[in-house]
Amino acid sequence: MADHASQSRSDSSTVTRSERETLLSQRGLVVWLYGLSGSGKTSLASALERSLQSEGRLTTLLDGDNLRGGLNQGLGFTVADRTENIRRAAEVAKLFAHSGVITVCAFITPTQALRDLARSIIGPADFLEVYVACSFAECERRDVKGLYAKAKAGGITHFTGKDSVFEPSTSADLILDTEKEDFAVLLEQLVQTVRAKVTLSTGK
Ligand code: ADX
Repeated sequence: MADHASQSRSDSSTVTRSERETLLSQRGLVVWLYGLSGSGKTSLASALERSLQSEGRLTTLLDGDNLRGGLNQGLGFTVADRTENIRRAAEVAKLFAHSGVITVCAFITPTQALRDLARSIIGPADFLEVYVACSFAECERRDVKGLYAKAKAGGITHFTGKDSVFEPSTSADLILDTEKEDFAVLLEQLVQTVRAKVTLSTGK
């Protein structure tokens, strides 16, 4: 009887974060990449995921473009909308991290207040802040999505770095300068930093 009672208690008890992480043999973490549009956030995020995935680690990717098409549909680029965009993204990232998933986020996150918001929602222990550095001029030269040309022609309001602020990074754990360094070198730096943070002391 006592056995049965304790059995049902353990069956219905909440599954802990630690149990989820043990199942996955990894620690949950949010890797928050930020920088101007076209700085290389999404490329680094995708390559990081690919690399971790090939080591048998469970990852997921949240970025401005994919969230703004669904969960954050209807949000624009005013300070209030960007704040709500980052708040929701950080709350979702936190849920994933607490499930043991390595959650790679790529958002412009243009102000220190927004970086602080993400860090405070997620919690400093689970938050790796990575600044993807690249000048406005170089992003404009790359213009991967044609947005810089459109903004120059007056077709986009609140464009980051033009008529909407991008504040310098002051609290990054890691700075990856895609203008000065080779992509492969930066990726290796990022993978090594993340690997050290997600490895369980007993696990892989
Ligand atoms: S954030 O400022 O709220 O963090 P987020 O990363 O979600 O921005 O979205 C940025 C993406 O939205 C850019 O990569 C670009 O494709 C698109 N975009 C559309 N309008 C703007 C704008 N006014 N400023 C910056 N990015 C824009």
